[in-house]
Amino acid sequence: MNKIPFGPTYEEMLHPEKITKEIREEALKAREENELDPINLFNITWKNEKGEVNKIILPKELTGVDANIIVMLGKYFPSGSHKVGPAYSTLIEGCVDGEITPGEHTILGPSTGNFGIGVSYICNLMGYEAVVIMPDNMSKERYERIQKYGARLDLTPGSESDVILTLERTYKLKEDPKNRALAQFELFPNYRFHRYVTGNSAVEAVKGIGNGRIACFCSAPGSAGTIAAGDEIKKVFPECRVAALEPYECSTLANGGRGQHRIEGIGDKMVTLIHNILTTDFVVEIKDEETVQGVKIIHDGSKALEEIGVPHETAEYMKNLFGPSGICNILGAIKMAKYLKLGPEDNVVTIATDSFDRYESVIENLNSRYLEVEDFVIKRWIEDIFINQKEDLIFDFRKNTDKEKLFLQKEKDWIKFGYSKEYLDSMKDLEFWEREYLKVKEYNIKIADMR
Ligand SMILES: Cc1ncc(COP(=O)(O)O)c(C=O)c1O
Repeated sequence: MNKIPFGPTYEEMLHPEKITKEIREEALKAREENELDPINLFNITWKNEKGEVNKIILPKELTGVDANIIVMLGKYFPSGSHKVGPAYSTLIEGCVDGEITPGEHTILGPSTGNFGIGVSYICNLMGYEAVVIMPDNMSKERYERIQKYGARLDLTPGSESDVILTLERTYKLKEDPKNRALAQFELFPNYRFHRYVTGNSAVEAVKGIGNGRIACFCSAPGSAGTIAAGDEIKKVFPECRVAALEPYECSTLANGGRGQHRIEGIGDKMVTLIHNILTTDFVVEIKDEETVQGVKIIHDGSKALEEIGVPHETAEYMKNLFGPSGICNILGAIKMAKYLKLGPEDNVVTIATDSFDRYESVIENLNSRYLEVEDFVIKRWIEDIFINQKEDLIFDFRKNTDKEKLFLQKEKDWIKFGYSKEYLDSMKDLEFWEREYLKVKEYNIKIADMR
């Protein structure tokens, strides 16, 4: 199939069954046979071929809590992570608004990896040249994938916590009128994709589990796109608490702290422009070493997992599901389930943005540091990291005075990029977010019309 400039609407990403039967079937076939067939744009969805949300309910032998912890799985999206959703949404909105034209514009993707992989992939399918701007110290699997999909790399010094440098570089490159940035940290298609598609998919994901509601939604923000799902979940289940997780080593939201850490994809040392602070109830800090050990447990510890009672098939199935940020989200979910004293009827929903396929090198590094990790060590780690995870390092951000700290941080981060105080203040009103969200309807029509 030739490059196609148009793919699904927001509505079709949430409800792929609404896509023409012929296209849906062709897309599902291409998913198995040729990931670079542009028809794969129609596979950007949380749903499998049966129309169910891809998810796992974690075994309680592992989590040690009564509540059900449900993890939505991003690995089944084209390119291997759900970040392809915001990349596509930002590009398609630019196309239908007439701001981005194939053959004319080069696409810039500032990223820590997965968004860059998504941008590279989408640009390949839709026929755009792309440049991914990212720190030079991320896992090597990320660079390989970006190059495999055809984008050029423009690396800035540092690692996860130096994302601001990638933003500064993007602003510089944007001075060339040929370039258009898919600016995930500041453009609202990222918010719209996650609030509409991820949020409503989460609501569907808990049907038939426990009381069928969501008591808590946990997400570790990078761009703070995913956490927007919480806005929609709260609308359906007003009792839901939203927790933003961040690295203990880079506690920007909790107290303005900055530092290097190893949970790739999150903890970007800023309050992003699209982060709706009004709906974030808690900030929770997670230690980066525990997330890497957690990946090791799940990937290499099937025997130990089975010994503590995790069914064989579940241990096998989980092996490749999580990277460090997925484990971070799970640990945050365990902490919150304990803190909120949730019971067996309650559901906590969280997300695995990507999966193990881009973290082999992280485990190689762990193995070289620990030399021998025997089964009895893995069993101790399971107890320390999962089952006995403490309900500490949880900060309540529900009061206006606490939110004000985050607003101030947002001002500090964004006024320097040309946003006015007046505009930033307008974000202190929930109406601002409703207006941005309502544009989903407009774009559904525009995308379908132009297609
Ligand atoms: C592995 C990983 N986890 C979590 C996130 C954070 O997601 P979001 O940018 O939607 O906040 C990202 C973002 O790139 C990621 O790559």
